[in-house]
Amino acid sequence: MKTRKLLMIPGPTPVARSIQDQMGRETVAFGDPAFVKDFKELLEDLKVLFKCSGEAFVVAGTGTMGMEMAIANTTKKGDNVLIVSHGFFGDRFIDLCNRKGLNADVISSEWGETVPVEKIREKLKEKKYAAMTVTHVDTSTGVCASVAEIGKMMKEFPETIYIVDGVCATAGEPEYVDEMGIDVLLTGSQKAFGVAPGLTMLWVSQKAMDRRKSLGTIPEFYIDFEKWLPIMKDPSKYYATPAVNLVWALKESVRIIKEEGIENRYARHKKYAAAMQDALETLGFKVLAKKGCRAVTLSNLVYPEGTDDAKFRGLLAEEGIMVAGGLAAYAGRMFRLGHMGNIDKHDLVSVIATIERALYRAGMPVELGKGVGVVQKHLMD
Ligand SMILES: Cc1ncc(COP(=O)(O)O)c(C=O)c1O
Repeated sequence: MKTRKLLMIPGPTPVARSIQDQMGRETVAFGDPAFVKDFKELLEDLKVLFKCSGEAFVVAGTGTMGMEMAIANTTKKGDNVLIVSHGFFGDRFIDLCNRKGLNADVISSEWGETVPVEKIREKLKEKKYAAMTVTHVDTSTGVCASVAEIGKMMKEFPETIYIVDGVCATAGEPEYVDEMGIDVLLTGSQKAFGVAPGLTMLWVSQKAMDRRKSLGTIPEFYIDFEKWLPIMKDPSKYYATPAVNLVWALKESVRIIKEEGIENRYARHKKYAAAMQDALETLGFKVLAKKGCRAVTLSNLVYPEGTDDAKFRGLLAEEGIMVAGGLAAYAGRMFRLGHMGNIDKHDLVSVIATIERALYRAGMPVELGKGVGVVQKHLMD
C-alpha cells in the first residue's frame, strides 16, 4: 500500500474534506440568488473576523496579484514607496514597484531578523512616501514582522498608506485591520485559510479607498478597486466572472474558522508552532528566525552540518511528507515546513515522526521518538 502524503509545504496547505466538497459542487451562474447570498455573507464575515470597518475584496488571482492590487490602487507613477523587507517576498515588491515607475526605497534585515521599528520611523521622516509595504510573515525566512507596533508608529505618517502582505499570515497570525492601523491587508486562499490556490482577499481602509479615488483612472483594468467595489457591494452585478466554486470553498473555510473561534485559531497556531520548533531543535535543526520574531505559520529549518538537502527531502517524501526547500542563499541549506491552516494534532505527531525516520534513513544521528516526545509534552500543556 502506498503511504499517504501529507502536504506540509508553506502553502498550499492541506484542504479539508468539507472544503474540497465545495469545490466539487455543480457550478452555478454567478447571478444565482443562492450564490449571491453566499458571496455577500462571506464578505461580511471577512470584515467582522479581521475587524475591518472598510471594504473587503475577494477576487480570482494569487497572492502576487493582491500585492499588485494594493500598490496599483494607492500609488501613481513617480510616487515614493518604502519597502520593508525581511526576505524574498518582501523583495518581490521591489520589482513590482520599479515596473510601475515608482521610486522604491528598501530597508532590509538580515535573513532571520526584522528591521527595527525605529529604523523604519527614521526612513519615513526622510521624504514623503505614498505607501509602505511590510510582509507580515516572510515565507522565505519564517520571520514575523511587528505589524501592530509598526501600525502604531504609522499614526505619525498619515499620508503614507500602510500595506501588509498577509499571504503567509492571515488566519494564523493575529491581524486586526482597524486596530493595527492597516490600510491594505492582502492575502491568498491557499495558506492559513486552507483553501486551494486561486483567490486573493483584501481588506481596505477608508483612507486607502479615498486614495484610490484621488488617483482618477488608473492604468490597471482587472485589479482596479473602483471596478470591483460595486460587485463587492452587490455580487449579483458583473465585472469579471467570480471563481464560484472557490468562493464557496472560502466560505466553508470561514465557517470552520468561526466554529473554531478566530482567537482560538490564533492560540492553536501559536501552540503548534512552539511544539514543532521545540521538537525540531531537539532533533538538531536550527530555526532561522530569531526568538521573538518567529512566525507561527511555518518554520524554516537550517540543516545540521553535512546534511544532503536533496537526499533528506527525497527521503521525507518517501516516508510521507512534502516540505519545501530553502530559497536564495539558503537553497540546499534549509527546508521549510508549513504548520498552518486546518491541520491538527495527528499531523504534528506524524510530521515529527516522519522527520525522525528520514533522519535515521539518511544516517544522521537521531534517537527515534525524542522529537515526538517533545511534541507530546507541548500538546499536554
Ligand atoms: C509572504 C508571501 N507573499 C506573497 C506570496 C505570493 O503569493 P502567490 O504565490 O499566491 O502569488 C507568497 C507566496 O508564497 C508569500 O509567501
